[in-house]
Amino acid sequence: MNNLIIETQGLTKTYRTGNLDVPVLKGIDLKVERGEILSLMGPSGCGKTTLMNVLGGLDCPTSGSVRVNGNPLECMNDDELTKFRLREIGFVFQFFNLIPTLTAAENVQLPLILAGEERWEVMDRCSSVLEQVGLSDKLGRMPYELSGGERQRVAVARALANNPSIVLADEPTGNLDSKTAANLIDLFNVINDENGQTFVLVTHDSEVAESADRIIYMRDGIIVDEMKEVTRRQTMEIEDSRGKSQILKTLDELDSLYLYNQINEELYRRLKAEYISHFCEIEINMNMSEIGRELSQRSSSYAGRAPSA
Ligand SMILES: Nc1ncnc2c1ncn2[C@@H]1O[C@H](COP(=O)(O)OP(=O)(O)OP(=O)(O)O)[C@@H](O)[C@H]1O
Ligand SMILES: [Mg+2]
Repeated sequence: MNNLIIETQGLTKTYRTGNLDVPVLKGIDLKVERGEILSLMGPSGCGKTTLMNVLGGLDCPTSGSVRVNGNPLECMNDDELTKFRLREIGFVFQFFNLIPTLTAAENVQLPLILAGEERWEVMDRCSSVLEQVGLSDKLGRMPYELSGGERQRVAVARALANNPSIVLADEPTGNLDSKTAANLIDLFNVINDENGQTFVLVTHDSEVAESADRIIYMRDGIIVDEMKEVTRRQTMEIEDSRGKSQILKTLDELDSLYLYNQINEELYRRLKAEYISHFCEIEINMNMSEIGRELSQRSSSYAGRAPSA
């Protein structure tokens, strides 16, 4: 049985600002299993929030397909998306986004009321999710009467109120100290165990990310297999640095050969130019100022050393 709760294919999102098209998601193929906790990492501006917004039906894709718990989001109109969000998705954001004039309990009740639940169901669900996040004793508190960690737990309770199939959390610990952050992630794990909800978690914190079942990395609008990418880059760098040190050794030998009159000037210059250009090829994608320094140091150290006739 296909147990995928999220499946995107060729998902793209391009924003238009003025006359300019800004491609932000450039072909995302993502598969998330039901009940999985997934961390999404990547540099600022790479498109994590945009992806979360599309997955959560807050924003529409430009092209490609997005299937969330069987719902083809790319085919839905605004009304259908609103219903989809209330039914399927719980959102948790970095800045708690609680309504400051409502109590903790009222904040949690809001999505239940919007979903048209009966009053008894609203009260029942509200107290059960606030209990699940350990805040049964703070139902009547206003957000300003709660600590940052407590406010974030209210936000989690609110996200869980409608018993969504997926919780999308965009840097939920970004504004918390490390201990409170760890507690929140523990809470996600407990909820995941108890309710089987799927969590997609954007984070810049590798410790938070590692608590997930799986980490995926984004860069510049695509998903990259960063682990493979890093290993490949490191291997290339090792090979390049070996190549470079070999060339430098050969250049030294060439200098000695020339200084001791083993080769004539023409051959010396030709070979030296060839080796330096090979050296430059290796360095071309690296730090050009470093190679400039290195070569000018080397050539200045030979300046004035006229070869004996
Ligand atoms: N509504 C919009 N119109 C135009 N450009 C946008 C819009 N929303 C986001 N962008 C651009 O899309 C890119 C990705 O933004 P996004 O918020 O998805 O990044 P992110 O990976 O979540 O970054 P961060 O880690 O800083 O939160 C950015 O360059 C941003 O400026
Ligand atoms: Mg973001």
